[in-house]
Amino acid sequence: MSRLEAAINRLIAQKTLLEHVADLIGKTPGPVFELGLGNGRTYDHLRQIFPEREIFAFDQAIRAHAGCIPDAAHMVVGDMRDTLRLCHPRIAAKPVLIHVDMGSGDPTADLATREWLSPLVADWAAEGGYVVTDRPLQLPGFTTIERPSGAPASPHLVYRRMKG
Ligand SMILES: C[S@@+](CC[C@H](N)C(=O)[O-])C[C@H]1O[C@@H](n2cnc3c(N)ncnc32)[C@H](O)[C@@H]1O
Repeated sequence: MSRLEAAINRLIAQKTLLEHVADLIGKTPGPVFELGLGNGRTYDHLRQIFPEREIFAFDQAIRAHAGCIPDAAHMVVGDMRDTLRLCHPRIAAKPVLIHVDMGSGDPTADLATREWLSPLVADWAAEGGYVVTDRPLQLPGFTTIERPSGAPASPHLVYRRMKG
């Protein structure tokens, strides 16, 4: 598979999994976290499929397309090692979906990220909430959700925090 084909698969898988999880969440209340605003592509899609929800986007810097930048109340700027630990005062409810899109392309950096990110994601996710991620995470008490048939092969995973 060429890198172009792999990139196309990744994007289609990301879109398919986010839409699948949006269906599973239905009307369950709660905000959405976008971990890695980047260019704002997936943020733009999230606000299309979750038009009624608060979406909080996190990134160390704002580099998104001008039309895809959340307002100041919903944009959390800084290193997520700090911001995810310290943003509780501005975010009242735990998220029903955490979308992790932080792949660096460097396997060692990605492993390092998994180590510090996993406990923060586990701490934030609502009971019964979902995590769509571009990398495996270590999430005790979560189950892995089967991918829908339309999702092409990609590294993405969907986890759900078990209730109770
Ligand atoms: C792959 S890009 C996100 C792409 C984006 N979701 C999109 O669709 O356009 C990854 C983003 O994660 C951010 N990022 C990576 N590590 C971070 C960290 N420790 N704290 C904050 N942001 C981080 C980078 O700055 C980058 O913008």
